Amino acid sequence: VVDIRKLYAQADVFTYDPGFTSTAACDSTITFIDGDEGVLLHRGYPIDQLASQSHYLEVCYLLLYGELPSPAQLEDFEMRVTNHTMLHEQMMYFFRGFRRDAHPMAVMVGVVGAMSAFYHDSTDVTDDWQREVASIRLIAKMPTIAAMAYKYTVGQPFVYPRNDLDYASNFLRMCFAVPAEEYQVNPILSRAMDRIFTLHADHEQNASTSTVRLASSSGANPFACIAAGIACLWGPAHGGANQACLEMLKEIGTPDRIPEFIARAKDKNDPFRLMGFGHRVYKNFDPRATVMKESADEVLELLGVENNPILQVAKELERQALEDPYFAEKKLFPNVDFYSGIILEAMGFPTSMFTPIFAVSRTVGWISQWKEMIADPQNKIGRPRQLYRGAEQRDYVDIENR
Ligand code: ACO
Repeated sequence: VVDIRKLYAQADVFTYDPGFTSTAACDSTITFIDGDEGVLLHRGYPIDQLASQSHYLEVCYLLLYGELPSPAQLEDFEMRVTNHTMLHEQMMYFFRGFRRDAHPMAVMVGVVGAMSAFYHDSTDVTDDWQREVASIRLIAKMPTIAAMAYKYTVGQPFVYPRNDLDYASNFLRMCFAVPAEEYQVNPILSRAMDRIFTLHADHEQNASTSTVRLASSSGANPFACIAAGIACLWGPAHGGANQACLEMLKEIGTPDRIPEFIARAKDKNDPFRLMGFGHRVYKNFDPRATVMKESADEVLELLGVENNPILQVAKELERQALEDPYFAEKKLFPNVDFYSGIILEAMGFPTSMFTPIFAVSRTVGWISQWKEMIADPQNKIGRPRQLYRGAEQRDYVDIENR
């Protein structure tokens, strides 16, 4: 008879850490977070400097290759990305297989996973060239896929990418342009979009990134692994929080109902939480939220929507929660998704597009971590252990004797 407890005692080291709150699964040179101090560095550069002085594709280069690019390197990188923004025409038919009211995240999980069926010349993870092409293809095509998922759900024709535009402007145009109408991208909105992409680009070993690493530890192809990351991101405790946050603000409806919802968030018998508040790592203000808050103010002023009732509820909720001792004591601050949701709402995106936009931004983080992992000689298949609490060994009983 197997003594289950003895098995654990025999292991050299056995840690039990639900939620991986204090277990590192890898070493990495990409992103550093100090949650107590509110610090986030990519390859050593502070996120606020990158968000205000750099732009998304330059940050992509930094995350992927480890250093800021020279002008020639950046030009070459941007050209490689823009060369790959189109989707294979057959993929358009793939979209048409979805119900028209499908959630765009469901479409993205499917379409990105299906890229391995359309681009099998870049699925061999042991080949340097194929890994590079897969990386560029994913970064280039994610905005096109997200925009098409949106257009499909609103019943409008797909807008093809325009490679003379920058990454963010092209995305906005693919989402909001309609054929037969001129569409000019407002540079302030394009800058705000680029900031949203930049601020979400990577965040070390969060749930979706860990999912990508775990999926790829078996040698699975990059498109399948990124689809796994998108699936994980969808949940309301992770990337789905921006959608959940806006839906919560709509449910609150008017500032006078805020105390009722704050009381519910504090009530331990009520599962309700204030969406967009709190973070596993940041026990201080999320440095991304600081930049995003500034960006939100800029966009709201530009669009003249400061009086939008949802945005008023958001501002008042932020004020009351920050003054509440419960949130101070538990170190719960508004996170990046609280403000990104407000900006996206003001820009005219439906809430269902918030998480797809997060997925577009985070693709480069997933890929950088995936590339780092594959290049690591210590890389082996991820295989967490468990603490078994089930029945002791026992003998099978025939059905007629039970
Ligand atoms: N509202 C009310 N109370 C909260 C909230 C919240 N948003 N977040 C945490 N708490 C409370 C918990 O009830 C718990 O209280 P207790 O100590 O009395 O039991 C305490 O704060 C700690 O919470 P945990 O769930 O243990 O913290 P954890 O680090 O596991 O969770 C998480 C972090 C999931 C982000 C959590 O704060 C949450 O659910 N927030 C709302 C969802 C959200 O905004 N997610 C976005 C995350 S950011 C991102 O993915 C980019």
